[in-house]
Amino acid sequence: MTREAREHWGSKLGFIMAAAGSAIGLGSLWRFPYVTATNGGGLFVLAYIFFTFAVSLPIFIAELIIGRRAQRGPVDALTSMSCNTGPWRNISWLCVITNFIILSFYSVISGWSLHYLILSLQDFTAQRTAEEISALFDRFYVASDLNIFWLGMFLALSAAVVLGGIKKGIELWASILTPGLFVLMLCLLLYCSSLSGFWPALEFLFRPDWSHFSSTGVLEALGMAFFTLSVGLGILITYGSYMQPTQSIPSTAITVAVLNVCVSLIASMIIFPLIFTFNMQPDQGPGLVFKILPVLFNQLPATKLLSTLFFLILLLTAITSSISILETLATTGMEAWGWSRRKSVFIWSTAGFFLGLPSALAGSGLLLPNWTSIYGTDFLSQINALPDWMLTIGALAFAFFVGWTLKPEIVEQEYKKASSALSLKFFPLWIALVRYFVPLAIISIVLHKLGIFQLLSC
Ligand code: TRP
Repeated sequence: MTREAREHWGSKLGFIMAAAGSAIGLGSLWRFPYVTATNGGGLFVLAYIFFTFAVSLPIFIAELIIGRRAQRGPVDALTSMSCNTGPWRNISWLCVITNFIILSFYSVISGWSLHYLILSLQDFTAQRTAEEISALFDRFYVASDLNIFWLGMFLALSAAVVLGGIKKGIELWASILTPGLFVLMLCLLLYCSSLSGFWPALEFLFRPDWSHFSSTGVLEALGMAFFTLSVGLGILITYGSYMQPTQSIPSTAITVAVLNVCVSLIASMIIFPLIFTFNMQPDQGPGLVFKILPVLFNQLPATKLLSTLFFLILLLTAITSSISILETLATTGMEAWGWSRRKSVFIWSTAGFFLGLPSALAGSGLLLPNWTSIYGTDFLSQINALPDWMLTIGALAFAFFVGWTLKPEIVEQEYKKASSALSLKFFPLWIALVRYFVPLAIISIVLHKLGIFQLLSC
């Protein structure tokens, strides 16, 4: 394909909003709280924060470096920068496939938030008992037509944004939706801080308690640090490829990582006080947000407003994240096969719809009816757990690529472009993390997870 002029982000802030929008998503709002609950809070949260800054952030920077240098999406970037030697091309395709898988189930869950937003606007909890409200989710989960409908609607929304391109699509919408999300979340946080369960929730979230921490929580914390920062699948290679040389990569990355951790913590500081105020069990699994929160909102004043706000927030974060996945796929279609943006977006979102069907129908069992009896859990829960592994492999690959394969001068040049004096001071630390600490940490945690050696005694 000939190299036509590549579109770039219109402003530095616009790029930060787009990258933060990609990072902040269902991972922070829906997944982080329930995984924190199943892992006993405290130490898991600390491990998550540590991994975000010591492992995930260095890879975030590494991906942006690859993207901005190559000015191409992941497949073309890794292929051209490695001069098509080694396994890099195959690894980049693995990233594309994983993005596609994530898009499929992510859109199903995002579709739920769209459904719950509409329900909230209709004040669906009024005159219903707690059991009835929780049971609504169970009924919705097995309703094949509704799940398919919302999957399609959500993908259509995401496709409409990505069709607009970088400046007029992703950047424009992320610049509106991401700050909007912050404002809405701060309003909810302020409200929750007045509840009696606020302090017990903070204690649960931040007090280290070894008795609740298992060593498998370490891998989950690492996977979570990758997932919530959108690291390990080349999304940041794609976003980096639209970056201007006048923007500092490390400062941008740190800003996004801090924003992302703040949102994950704020989400938990909204959800757990509600749970503690009403003496409910926090470890409810993936249904936590959809089954429990409406019950709790129903017991508070301004139910309709609270519930609408919350599901609107969930939807906004889901959109700004899914567009980053769809953009990466669209870029791949445009670069690898010369498709137009319109054709690429259409093909990937339609394909995402079909791949999403087994997840959308996981509850009803219309497709793959024997899945649960054969594998023990339904298709959606299983596919949801897959990316942790893929992200870990991807992150390890990018660490090797930038730390050991790319010419050190290229890496240093990209890191230092437009960087502040402070960021420059961190260069030796960053490169040491990418070369040694990140691969060692990832490999030891994976070996531990596979049972090859024991990391902690518990
Ligand atoms: N980070 C997003 C979230 O927290 C999800 C996401 C978007 C993602 N793009 C990604 C995860 C790429 C992994 C890789 O919900």
